[in-house]
Amino acid sequence: MAPAPRRHILLLLVILLSFSCFFLFSVPNSNPKAQIESQFHQIPSPNPGPNFTFIIKVLTFNRLSSLSRCLNSLSKAHYDVGDKVHLHVFIDHFFQDSQNRSADVDQKLNLSKQILDFIDGFEWKFGEKLVHYRTSNAGLQAQWLEAWWPTSDHEFAFVVEDDLELSPLYYRFLKAVILNYYYNASNFSPSIYGASLQRPRLVPGKHGNKMQLDGEARIFLYQLVGTWGQLLFPRPWKEFRLWYDTHKAKGMKPFLDGMVTTGWYKRIGEKIWTPWFIKFIHSHGYFNIYTNFGHEQALSVSHRDAGVNYGKTIGPDSYLLDENSFNFNLLELYPLNSLKWYDFCFREVLTNRIVKSSNDLRSILQSVQKNNSVVLVSLYRMSETVIRNMFCHFERLNIQNYLLMGPTSHFLLDLARRGHPVIDASEFSKFSQLAKSINFQDSTVELMKEILVKAYVTKKCLELGYNTWLVDGNMLPSSTDLFFDSFGHANDFYIGKTGRLFFVRSSTSAIKIWSDNFMYNIASLVETLRKEAVSHDSILFYAIERFLEKQKIKYSNIDDIHANGTLFEMKNRFIFWSSDTEMEIIQRQLVHLDLWVVDGDSSCTGVVCHPS
Ligand SMILES: *[C@@H]1O[C@H](CO)[C@@H](O)[C@H](O)[C@H]1NC(C)=O
Ligand SMILES: *[C@@H]1O[C@H](CO)[C@@H](O)[C@H](O)[C@H]1NC(C)=O
Ligand SMILES: *[C@@H]1O[C@H](CO)[C@@H](O)[C@H](O)[C@H]1NC(C)=O
Ligand SMILES: *[C@@H]1O[C@H](CO)[C@@H](O)[C@H](O)[C@H]1NC(C)=O
Ligand SMILES: *[C@@H]1O[C@H](CO)[C@@H](O)[C@H](O)[C@H]1NC(C)=O
Ligand SMILES: *[C@@H]1O[C@H](CO)[C@@H](O)[C@H](O)[C@H]1NC(C)=O
Repeated sequence: MAPAPRRHILLLLVILLSFSCFFLFSVPNSNPKAQIESQFHQIPSPNPGPNFTFIIKVLTFNRLSSLSRCLNSLSKAHYDVGDKVHLHVFIDHFFQDSQNRSADVDQKLNLSKQILDFIDGFEWKFGEKLVHYRTSNAGLQAQWLEAWWPTSDHEFAFVVEDDLELSPLYYRFLKAVILNYYYNASNFSPSIYGASLQRPRLVPGKHGNKMQLDGEARIFLYQLVGTWGQLLFPRPWKEFRLWYDTHKAKGMKPFLDGMVTTGWYKRIGEKIWTPWFIKFIHSHGYFNIYTNFGHEQALSVSHRDAGVNYGKTIGPDSYLLDENSFNFNLLELYPLNSLKWYDFCFREVLTNRIVKSSNDLRSILQSVQKNNSVVLVSLYRMSETVIRNMFCHFERLNIQNYLLMGPTSHFLLDLARRGHPVIDASEFSKFSQLAKSINFQDSTVELMKEILVKAYVTKKCLELGYNTWLVDGNMLPSSTDLFFDSFGHANDFYIGKTGRLFFVRSSTSAIKIWSDNFMYNIASLVETLRKEAVSHDSILFYAIERFLEKQKIKYSNIDDIHANGTLFEMKNRFIFWSSDTEMEIIQRQLVHLDLWVVDGDSSCTGVVCHPS
């Protein structure tokens, strides 16, 4: 690629005089070529722009020609007057074996000296230059992890291994990313940990298969870290460093079943850092910003020179973009809510689907239903770890037609952030009114409201033609198709009071029975059932049964269960347990049955990708 013409200083001045704020005005220029060209030479106004620090962290060892190509590309890039862009170079030391002073030690010393001399002579005009020359071999993991501890929330690190080459436009793009996705509150998400400039290539959950990217947008979010030009945001990086410390110090391993990177870790262990970071990202549900310019082009390329990662030089992984590569405005970034999010399987994740009123209900039910079935999972009074374990089973079994219901909580919102669809029952205020109007003791009002919301959502499902499951988080299903139509057609109603399961088929008669009056009636039974010492968790199921009996409506009892230790099994379909049993005991037995699939962070022990 030809180097950029270096007339930008002049252009810069002209533009400075003619535009007060690049981000607010489009360029009034009828010549599209000039318009596109000018985007790389403009200065966004520093006011009211944020005052952040950008630190380039170059990691190098013993590859002088690589380092020289890398630093030259960095210094040729376009930076803006007034921006603070510091250069920190970390030089690893060669490995010293005290037992065996090899013949090539002089050569190694010589090479280190040449690298130091080169860096000393290298001029960096855009900020401070700092050199960290190690006394012993740290390796790639420590080189990355020790490169940065952010000193504020306004400091960003861009980590560059020495065999990378950067586009002259890389900084302008990253700056636009920071301004748009970090400092613009309407496009900020706490789930985003940074941005990678490398061409996305790999799907780690699918044996490291190549990514198929043809139709994707120019910017998207993906969980995987990119080691060829990674911008890191300060808060998630600090969080990672603390997490790493805790886990490493306690002897834990960053194993994540189903990921190709776990295989790498098992082979080369602590030489690399990515398995640790990937495990952290997976457990926290975070994402990275990626670009897709098509035609194997990127703003950062790796020359894959022989070294720690490659035994022999492989050559560039992509084509480097420069000013002449664009027929669009590189710095025009999309609003966050128009971007797509992808997990380690490169499957789309739909984040922040939160139902807050009956108006939102219809579209979410339509989007989650599968084969006209919906599973409503109650989060009331459930332990977070148990719920997370249930989702890990859902992921394994490819169960996607579920919707969670619970009161507002940090946990509920976090589940939505991670891509689980939720109903925030606390927002359904009309049911508070209704519950109060039924007029029992205050202690019952919350329970009554819970039952009204569950009955109401069920009603909406039935009206949309969806067969509906109402389940508690105390169960684990044994197969995928179970949550479709798993009973015969003899009845419309199936009740399991012990297992806390309920199934209703959407038929004309069921819709007629499940009226507003029905909802009111089952809520009214709460007080009676409480007096009969029915537990809070079971009241809904008892109330439905009692009402159907009263109306002489046929239903089936699906409490056909047998106990096995503290667990119950229902016809090989479900395993569940009573809410009185201590969690520790249940967990022990689930571990024994290989049904406990969360780790110490309450995060799935593996990633399971299904064909889409
Ligand atoms: C930007 O930060 C520097 C120190 O990092 C400070 O001296 C300067 O006053 C700040 N400018 C503004 C506009 O906040
Ligand atoms: C010493 O190092 C050289 C080269 O690194 C190696 O070939 C040799 O086997 C080593 N000798 C011993 C005794 O470890
Ligand atoms: C070390 O480098 C110098 C030049 O910088 C050269 O004269 C010398 O021969 C080199 N020594 C070794 C052992 O490579
Ligand atoms: C912030 O982002 C929103 C949505 O993308 C956009 O409409 C707005 O102009 C941005 N604000 C600034 C100051 O860039
Ligand atoms: C979908 O439901 C129909 C009948 O309700 C059933 O025949 C079919 O097997 C179901 N599909 C799956 C994938 O379970
Ligand atoms: C009961 O649980 C044990 C493990 O705890 C399992 O091996 C056994 O198969 C189960 N028995 C039945 C009848 O399901």
